[in-house]
Amino acid sequence: MTDSSKIDYPAIEAKWIAAATAANDPQTLEAMRVDALGKKGEISQLMKGLGGLDPDQRREAGLQLNRVKDAVQAAIETRRNALDESQLEAKLAAERIDVTLPVRPETEGRLHPISQTIDEVMAIFGEMGFSIAEGPDIEDDFHNFTALNFPPKHPAREMHDTFWLPEDERGERKLLRTHTSPVQVRLMRGLNEKLPSWVANGQEPPIRVIAPGRTYRSDSDATHTPMFHQMEGLVIDRAIHMGHLKWTLETFIARYFETPVVETRFRPHHFPFTEPSAEMDVRCERSGAEVKIGQGDDWMEIVGCGMVHPNVLTNCGLDPDVWQGFAFGFGIDRLATLKYGMPDLRDMFASDVRWLDHYGFSAFAQPNPATGLS
Ligand code: PHE
Repeated sequence: MTDSSKIDYPAIEAKWIAAATAANDPQTLEAMRVDALGKKGEISQLMKGLGGLDPDQRREAGLQLNRVKDAVQAAIETRRNALDESQLEAKLAAERIDVTLPVRPETEGRLHPISQTIDEVMAIFGEMGFSIAEGPDIEDDFHNFTALNFPPKHPAREMHDTFWLPEDERGERKLLRTHTSPVQVRLMRGLNEKLPSWVANGQEPPIRVIAPGRTYRSDSDATHTPMFHQMEGLVIDRAIHMGHLKWTLETFIARYFETPVVETRFRPHHFPFTEPSAEMDVRCERSGAEVKIGQGDDWMEIVGCGMVHPNVLTNCGLDPDVWQGFAFGFGIDRLATLKYGMPDLRDMFASDVRWLDHYGFSAFAQPNPATGLS
């Protein structure tokens, strides 16, 4: 049994307050707290000892001990706050950003000119109220040819023009689409069929859509690659005529080539899926390999187009006496080379990073007709 009168409470208090104040980190402070106030800590043990004292002594010692305990607890609390604060300050000082340091060189990727061109084309047509659709690269004969009014023995269906896949389990041979026109069929049939999710949903007349994408033909020279890109355009409504087609194409060409003046002409042509069909030429000036679009004394073919053939409308479940429309098909690769001057189309797909460094675009500059396309 402890003789409570011999306990020097002020000394105990002073000792633990000194220990708290001397603790230089949270761990030391916590260890000190356990030694003083923890279950087996000195002050707690003295508290336990109170039970054995006579009532008078107990009251007196209890008062003293509680005072010591409160004082030590307060000292610990004060120290903890001080330590927390200085730790935060140290952290802030260590993490301070030195704004005078030179910027680390970032290796920034470049956007392929085809991606850039597609972005530009989408920006222009988007502003004109067109939406964007896509279709599958692997098509069936119906969407690529039959629905588009290709006669059964049409040469485009031949082995040497089209990449055919091996027969599937149903005996059907799929193909790599030879143009983006099958997207027209998928869009118009959207009236009757639920559209796959990768096609812009809810397309029913009026339709105003462009569909950029990859296309494939068995062709390879300086101006043809087996894989190339097209952009289909389709407008269907109740009173659409060639005038709308001409305005749309001229407006697009002027904006894309960023020239205030364009002069165009329709040249009669044949496509199975349009009637009448035309190729549109644009006024240009050639000096050597360079072509300037807009003015000049020469013409250059730039796009295939026409009024959607009544058979195609019928094949797609639309009544040609109610609905008409026009369609056009641009070669995206050609749009890119004409604007950005790449001499050989094949280099576009050779995956040479030096070529891409030279001809590529910043991925952070989104084309916008208002603030600039490229
Ligand atoms: N699909 C045609 C081609 O690949 C281009 C085209 C599209 C022509 C739409 C007219 C209308 O040559």
